[in-house]
Amino acid sequence: MLIKTKKEIPSSEITPESAYKQRREFLIGSANIAIGAGALSAGLISPTALAQSDGLRSRAPEDLNLASKPSWLVDIVRSRSDAPVIGPYTTAEALTPFEDTTTYNNFFEFGNGKGDPASRAQDFKIDPWSVEIAGEVNKPGMYNLEDILQPQSLEERIYRLRCVEAFSMVIPWIGFPLANLINRFEPNSNARFIEFETLYDPEQMPGQAARTSSLGWPYREGLRMDEAMHPLAILAVGMYDDILPAQNGAPLRLVVPWKYGFKSIKSIVRINFRQDMPRTAWNDYAEDEYGFYSNVNPDVSHPRWSQSSERRLPSGLFDRRIPTQIFNGYANEVAHLYAGMDLSANF
Ligand code: MTE
Repeated sequence: MLIKTKKEIPSSEITPESAYKQRREFLIGSANIAIGAGALSAGLISPTALAQSDGLRSRAPEDLNLASKPSWLVDIVRSRSDAPVIGPYTTAEALTPFEDTTTYNNFFEFGNGKGDPASRAQDFKIDPWSVEIAGEVNKPGMYNLEDILQPQSLEERIYRLRCVEAFSMVIPWIGFPLANLINRFEPNSNARFIEFETLYDPEQMPGQAARTSSLGWPYREGLRMDEAMHPLAILAVGMYDDILPAQNGAPLRLVVPWKYGFKSIKSIVRINFRQDMPRTAWNDYAEDEYGFYSNVNPDVSHPRWSQSSERRLPSGLFDRRIPTQIFNGYANEVAHLYAGMDLSANF
C-alpha cells in the first residue's frame, strides 16, 4: 500500500522502521510470546483473563487522544457481555500489545507515517457524533451515536487484522454485528451494496489538508450486502476493554477480519445502501492494486510484493514472519461467499 506507492509519499512522512523496532525491542519476548496457546486451546483459561493478567491491555487515558470521553459510551463498552468464547469468532492467539496497536497505525487522515495518527490525532472530538443512514433503506436519517448503539448489545471479538502491507496484529475489539444495524434500518430490495464514509474535517485531520495527501477524501469503503450481513463483520466502538482511541477509528469503525485491513474503515459518519458497487478510496487511488473485494489471499500477490507471509506485531530485534492464511484464517466461515468466483480476477 504505502510501502512504495506510485504517487510517492515523502520519506519524511513515514516512521522509520528502525525507530519503531527500537521502541519494541525490549518488549518482544515478554508476556505476549509467553501466552501458551496449548493452555488456551485446552480450554484451561480464557484469552481475556490471560491477556489481562499479562498486562497486554494496560493503557493510560491519554492514549485515547480524545477531547473527551463520553461517560455513557465508556459505560456501555465496559458493561459488555462476558469474555469471548474461543471459536470461529475469537482467536486464542496472543494479543498484540495495546502499545503497538495504538502507535503503529494507518489512518491517512492524520498523515502517512505509522506514528502520525497517535501523535496528530490529539483531542479528536467524538462527542457529539452522528451517522447518516442513506440510500436504499426504509429508515434513512441522521442518527446520533447513542441512538445507533442503543439497541445493540456489545461483545468482545478477538480477531486477526492483516494489513495489505503484510503486517498483522491480534486485537480484542468490542462491538456488535454489522448485520444488526443493517436489519434495524431495513434495506429495501434494491440494496445490493453498502458504502461507508469517514469524517471529513481537515481542521481536525491534517492529512486531509496536506498537499502530500495521497487519497481522495472522505475515505470510502464498501461491501457487498451478503458480506456485510456475515456475522464476522462488526462495527467496533471499543478495544482492549475501553472505547476506541482516536487513532484506531473512534468512535465507530468497521472490522472485516477476512479482508485486508484497509476495508475496515474508521470514524464512520455515513452508511449508504446502494444498488451498484461503490468506488472506494483505494480503488480510486490505484485500482490495479487495490480491488473491491480485497480478501486476504496468500496466492494473489500485490503487484509490488508477495502476500504469502506476514510480519506479526510486535516486532522486535527479529521479525516474526508467519504464513498468511487464505481469508486470513476465516475460510471455513466465509469461503462460501465467493463460491465460483475467480479470486485473482476479483482481488
Ligand atoms: N480508515 C480510514 N478512514 N482511513 C485510513 O487511512 N486505513 C486502513 C483501515 N481503515 C484507514 C482506515 C488501513 S490501511 C488499515 S491496515 C487499518 O485501518 C488499520 O487499522 P489500525 O490502525 O486500527 O490497526
